[in-house]
Amino acid sequence: MQAEEMRGSAPALTASVPDEARARFLSDVLAGLHRSPKRLPSKYFYDHRGSWLFDRICELPEYYPTRTELSILRTRGREIARSIGPACQLIELGAGSTLKIRLLLETLDRPHSYVPVDISGEYLRKQNRALDAECPELRVIPVAADFMRDFTLPARDDGRGRRVVFFPGSTIGNLTREEAIGLLRRIARLITPDGGLLIGIDLVKSPAVLEAAYNDCQGVTAAFNLNVLRRVRDELGAELDLAAFAHHAYYRHSRRRIEMHLVSRRTQQIVLDGERFQLMAGETIHTENSHKYELETFAQFTAEAGLRARQTWTDARHWFAVQYLECD
Ligand code: AVI
Repeated sequence: MQAEEMRGSAPALTASVPDEARARFLSDVLAGLHRSPKRLPSKYFYDHRGSWLFDRICELPEYYPTRTELSILRTRGREIARSIGPACQLIELGAGSTLKIRLLLETLDRPHSYVPVDISGEYLRKQNRALDAECPELRVIPVAADFMRDFTLPARDDGRGRRVVFFPGSTIGNLTREEAIGLLRRIARLITPDGGLLIGIDLVKSPAVLEAAYNDCQGVTAAFNLNVLRRVRDELGAELDLAAFAHHAYYRHSRRRIEMHLVSRRTQQIVLDGERFQLMAGETIHTENSHKYELETFAQFTAEAGLRARQTWTDARHWFAVQYLECD
């Protein structure tokens, strides 16, 4: 099935993209298309449609990370809540869906407030309105921001600043090593001195399982991958033929990561902002990396950011881990 023809579509939403965001999008895309091999940053998957498609991915039978992480949060909820402690301000990075946070909130001891931070502001507000209505005693303060850049957090009004960052889904795996360490350092600054980080980590496993998760039978991941080019066409006015690109995802063992690409089905060009970018048949645009970790390697990573794991929970197959870290 062509990804473009996928049944079921994201609810219509006409969000105007602010000039500054559009200018950054354009310059990132131009820079990526000038590179060899060509690249597009994966953060641009997530407009309203992309966030909706990602939620569909999380429900796919092949996509094990969400289900596995949810099962850990469900079965180890009490221990996790004990590690986190009472009355924290819970800050979730990349808070598209409210499923995981609901589970966490069920067991947490009187959280002070919940601050979901996500790049897709409209989607965020809609998802969290429901949560707000369900838990009237909890302050829900959505922040529409790119968490890879500095953003302002709401101040706590009772003078006690104990913050716990929740970063689920192994989203850290979509970053380069430098980006990941940079983000972990910023998180460490946010939670210092007595807060914590609860993070989801996708672990190394059989390539067959990994590749199936990123090549689902219904073509949802393909549509998600193509969404970035759709945005380049629709929001930046590029001339390009979406149907002339195919989704390709494979496990690159030497780098311990799934790579997603868009493969040009024929010789073609993309025209953007007065520039022409030539693509040969078979040439790819690299759109995403999804790193898989061994816990030992991950520990080296977090140590560089001044964080140390206090507790780790995994599923029976050791496919996924949830870890609670504190400042060293
Ligand atoms: C958000 N992130 C952790 C997902 C992943 O698995 O790397 C994004 C994704 N890409 C394709 N499928 C899901």
